[in-house]
Amino acid sequence: MKNIKLAMPSLKDAKLRRKLDVETIRYKENNKYINLGKGKTYYIFTYGCQGNEADSEVMAGILEGVGYTLSQDPMNSDVVLLNTCAIRENAEQRIWGVLGQLKGRKREKPDMIVGICGCMPQEENATNKILESYDFIDLVFGTHNRDHLPELIYQAYLTKAKVVEVLSNEGTILEDAPKVRQSHHKAWVNIMYGCDEFCTYCIVPYTRGRERSRSKEDIINEVNELVKEGYKEITLLGQNVNAYGKDLGTDYTFGDLLYDLDKTGIERIRYTTSHPRDLDEKTMLAMRDCKSVMPHLHLPVQSGDNDVLKIMNRKYTYEEYMSKINRLKELVPDIAITTDIIVGFPNETEEQFQNTIKLVQNAKFEGAYTFIYSKREGTPAAKMPDSVSDKEKHERLERLNVYVNEGYKKGHERFLNQVVEVLVDGESKNGEGMMCGYSKHLKLTHFKSNDLSLIGKTVKVKITEAKTWFMIGELCE
Ligand code: SAH
Ligand code: SF4
Ligand code: F3S
Repeated sequence: MKNIKLAMPSLKDAKLRRKLDVETIRYKENNKYINLGKGKTYYIFTYGCQGNEADSEVMAGILEGVGYTLSQDPMNSDVVLLNTCAIRENAEQRIWGVLGQLKGRKREKPDMIVGICGCMPQEENATNKILESYDFIDLVFGTHNRDHLPELIYQAYLTKAKVVEVLSNEGTILEDAPKVRQSHHKAWVNIMYGCDEFCTYCIVPYTRGRERSRSKEDIINEVNELVKEGYKEITLLGQNVNAYGKDLGTDYTFGDLLYDLDKTGIERIRYTTSHPRDLDEKTMLAMRDCKSVMPHLHLPVQSGDNDVLKIMNRKYTYEEYMSKINRLKELVPDIAITTDIIVGFPNETEEQFQNTIKLVQNAKFEGAYTFIYSKREGTPAAKMPDSVSDKEKHERLERLNVYVNEGYKKGHERFLNQVVEVLVDGESKNGEGMMCGYSKHLKLTHFKSNDLSLIGKTVKVKITEAKTWFMIGELCE
């Protein structure tokens, strides 16, 4: 297939943080493409973080805006997009696997447009591999140009060539784009895009551009609309939500935003992700004062060792982290705290790993995503020598997870015999006649019922069993 390279990724450009004004693009449908997808279907496979899920909702909105309808059968649709994640090598391995399956399908259905987008194409080596080894792919674009989607599909149809447009710049803010939300009671609300932290292991600052905050008016308007449409819960999204507003040059902060959003009447507010260095007193006070802000905080710590934290460029110490969560526990005594941890960072010693175990015990986390360090080309850590064997890294992960899983269980046990409020998501996957949802503390809760009219409602459930991964209870009348 011929290649049309409108733009190729550049790691060098992705590192730039020029002091340019952030451009806000107000999406408008272009009449030229209005019938592009008439009578045709689409499907989007989404991998990675909530940011990617939110992006897929926008791409679905844009595609439906030009006439496509959602396919019930992904492998039979006219446009298939893979919205990808580059955070760890195993995330990428999965995607190469799915591409393998799509290759066979494309041979049987040559008019199907296959596109790859999201964080992976932002990496130079991934896009080069796609160009060299995945000839059947029609479209390659990244995280910065979703609004070009109709034009890119149009080009692919017209030219029958592989169209590549991956922009490596600081990024823009896209407003007013249509969205097809996955849920009718829970919604993602982006408050900022990008990341300026440059943790030494992490690819995100290169794939997502610089930190840029949406205006508070745009955010509050979106939430007001969601309340009108009957939404019950919002999750505010950003790689470092506590840095919200810093780029806008005003003194309005994330804490102020929480106080303002509490006034919209939305029932539940969650947010992710917080950076420990930027978590401030105002945010903690808002968690105490605002009824809608849920008593759960995901605060990734990554390591419990000060030297490792330093080499990771996390800009806080074990002691500072503990003092922030202790302060938060003073203000919101029943808060549930969860975290992310990386084991096997280059040259991590057994003693340094033990400091992480110590932290997990002292912080009393009620859950953690734990990862083995994965080398990301282009990041500073990729150049660091590493004496820790793969076997040792896997063993550390297993040893750590014993403590982490105890924390999960204890976090459920503390609600035994108590009545919790559950926002009902739907039928449980495991067990007939059961339904499930999340409590305020973000505990997955199952209860006996087959009343589908409860979906999207908040019900009271008395907890009767506490397992490692969930709680079981009885619906209160
Ligand atoms: N912005 C968020 C998290 C983004 S990525 C934050 O700073 O907390 C989600 C998690 O993936 C990170 O918290 C980290 O634990 C993990 N992660 C990121 N890069 C990784 C890598 N190269 N190897 C292993 N885990 C990684
Ligand atoms: Fe990655 Fe660090 Fe930014 Fe999180 S804060 S996205 S871990 S660079
Ligand atoms: Fe993955 Fe990109 Fe999110 S790398 S975790 S999809 S920001």
